[in-house]
Amino acid sequence: MFASVNFILKMTIFTQKSKIQDHISTEKLKGKTFGFVPTMGALHKGHLSLVKKALKENDVCVVSIFVNPTQFDNADDLKKYPRTLDDDVSLLKTVSKNILVYAPSVDDIYEGNTKAEQFSFDGLEFEMEGMFRQGHFDGVGTIVKRLFEIVTPNNAYFGEKDFQQLAIIKKLVEKYNIPVVVKGCEIFREDSGLAYSSRNARLKPEYKNEAPFIYKTLSTAKEKFGTKSAKEVTEWAEKQFAKNKLLELEYFIIADVETLKPVKRKSKTKTYRAFVAAYADDIRLIDNLALN
Ligand code: PAF
Repeated sequence: MFASVNFILKMTIFTQKSKIQDHISTEKLKGKTFGFVPTMGALHKGHLSLVKKALKENDVCVVSIFVNPTQFDNADDLKKYPRTLDDDVSLLKTVSKNILVYAPSVDDIYEGNTKAEQFSFDGLEFEMEGMFRQGHFDGVGTIVKRLFEIVTPNNAYFGEKDFQQLAIIKKLVEKYNIPVVVKGCEIFREDSGLAYSSRNARLKPEYKNEAPFIYKTLSTAKEKFGTKSAKEVTEWAEKQFAKNKLLELEYFIIADVETLKPVKRKSKTKTYRAFVAAYADDIRLIDNLALN
């Protein structure tokens, strides 16, 4: 019997920034291009879709796997965040040999000072997630800026599930003139409509069954948005969640994609999305959908 290709692929795993920096600069001198997929691990099909896109558009894909402590506002959430490096590497091995994994320690990134820098993202950071997760985007800005400095990718890939994060990273790159093209990628969903998330693995069966309600509500909200005001659609969605015994709504907001501010009056020239954060038991799920 021949061994499956999955098992014979080698994967280079770097844990020190100096080592991966040396490797990437040598390869860049040979003309290689680099796509980058930053992750916190617990990889799933959504991540793999980003990796595949990066491999299509670049010679090599770097995947960072790092649970970034400075973006958690809740110590328990940080502690419970899944850490599955061996499984993550096995999964990546099934995709391509042109993947480099960077899995640093907290010290390799923060050098003994595990603190977030303070950023201004022109107000984007105060909307939605910013209202409920204190300091979250300072933590995201800090880690993504450092990772961009270490990996120096040509292109970086982020899922639209974290649409606000994507907008903030585009702003970060613009403000700091970071030479990387940030690419947003469509949300990858399970057949049920539930958006893939590392947190889904922690959902108890009854909550996993109920979680597609989020996408169902977003989809119906999209239909209603054709004829109704943002306020009417928001009130309708809030009522649907109020009737749901398993999902506790934190917010349902229809926002302008440029400013991320809630819509007061619809304009034909603007683009809108509906955003949801809801708890399934103690697990916080987010999702969003383009409305026009
Ligand atoms: O989206 C994530 O997984 C994280 O916020 C990121 C971008 C990897 C930064 O830690």
